[in-house]
Amino acid sequence: MKKIVVTGGAGFIGSNFIRYVLNNREYSIINIDQLLLSGSSENIREFSKNRNYRFVKGDIRDFDFLLKFFQREKKIFGVINFAAQSHVDRSIIFPKDFMDTNILGVFNLLEILRRGFFKRFLQISTDEVYGDLKIDSKEKFKEDSPLKPNSPYSSSKASADLISLSYHKTYDLDIVITRSSNNFGPYQFPEKLIPLTILKALKNEKIPIYGDGKNVRDWLYVEDNVRAILNVFENGKRGSVYNIGADNGISNLDLVKMILKILKKDECLITFVKDRPSHDRKYSLDSSKIKRELKHKNIFKFYPTLKKTVEWYKENIKWVEKCIDEDFKKYYIKNYKERLDEKN
Ligand code: NAD
Ligand code: TYD
Repeated sequence: MKKIVVTGGAGFIGSNFIRYVLNNREYSIINIDQLLLSGSSENIREFSKNRNYRFVKGDIRDFDFLLKFFQREKKIFGVINFAAQSHVDRSIIFPKDFMDTNILGVFNLLEILRRGFFKRFLQISTDEVYGDLKIDSKEKFKEDSPLKPNSPYSSSKASADLISLSYHKTYDLDIVITRSSNNFGPYQFPEKLIPLTILKALKNEKIPIYGDGKNVRDWLYVEDNVRAILNVFENGKRGSVYNIGADNGISNLDLVKMILKILKKDECLITFVKDRPSHDRKYSLDSSKIKRELKHKNIFKFYPTLKKTVEWYKENIKWVEKCIDEDFKKYYIKNYKERLDEKN
């Protein structure tokens, strides 16, 4: 059985990935996570009894920790790196955290790879590295489109992509990259738009929409992304990048209205607030490469999975309450109160 390391496996996409792999494949998984705010032990509790799973608390910024870990563990086939600071708004307030984990953390993992402690590295990246498109543009970003990131988050992810590709070329290492669009589904931390909208609507609280709400995101159900990531890890060509999109562009305003309709809540909950600085207008991906080369096909439809996600949050309010700690409250007040105050 192949032994793999998943970094950041206590977060939203990482925990969904581990669940999928443990249920569908024969891998032995070691999950290294620092358990920062968006990475919760609640997301991984159910795996603890699985004999193919182990958790190690650790920080990818700490090279000595990584080196000792990989010296101790033998025969690790590959590493899939989900670990990141992942929220654009937070990157505007605390940019250094993003540079440290998203760039230096990846550099550390690449240095471990260069020393021969494992064979294959998959870096989880994002469509945000390409920058944005005009609202009426018909263009779709391809894997070889120029990288033009606009936020501290996306520039840190683009940097990691470039460093990873340079390690592939310079040291002939087996490295692949996935760039997916916005994910949604269970276990997403409540600072992101979809869970935030569901939870605020359930409490009949105002839902903050940045700017005019016309910004477009291409929403991908997390399990489709997880299936694509596994496919790239198992079959992707060394040194290749794969886009993973859903061809499902929708404006923030329409998305929020859709969620309110599912919950039978009034649209008067919507409040327009001060826009995010340098707010990307639209993302759109061309995913033909992964379809053509790796025969990947998304299997989930948007509306039923959005409904399912709404149901999941309704049934898991306790999970949400456990996630929201003092740190989150401080961030939330800084981000949202200031936005509302400045708008009014
Ligand atoms: P998340 O914030 O839910 O999870 C990130 C995980 O990384 C958390 O468990 C956190 O504890 C861990 N982590 C953070 N810093 C760490 C460190 N220094 N050492 C060890 N662990 C650390 O994020 P997510 O939404 O699951 O995103 C996972 C990956 O996918 C990220 O790389 C993100 O850039 C990328 N991505 C996310 C989306 C999306 O829509 N969520 C879309 C495209 C790409
Ligand atoms: P988000 O979930 O933060 O993902 P990203 O910025 O990585 O795309 O935001 C999705 C979109 O929703 C983005 O255009 C910003 C917008 N947004 C709001 O309008 N209000 C909010 O409270 C949040 C969190 C996001």
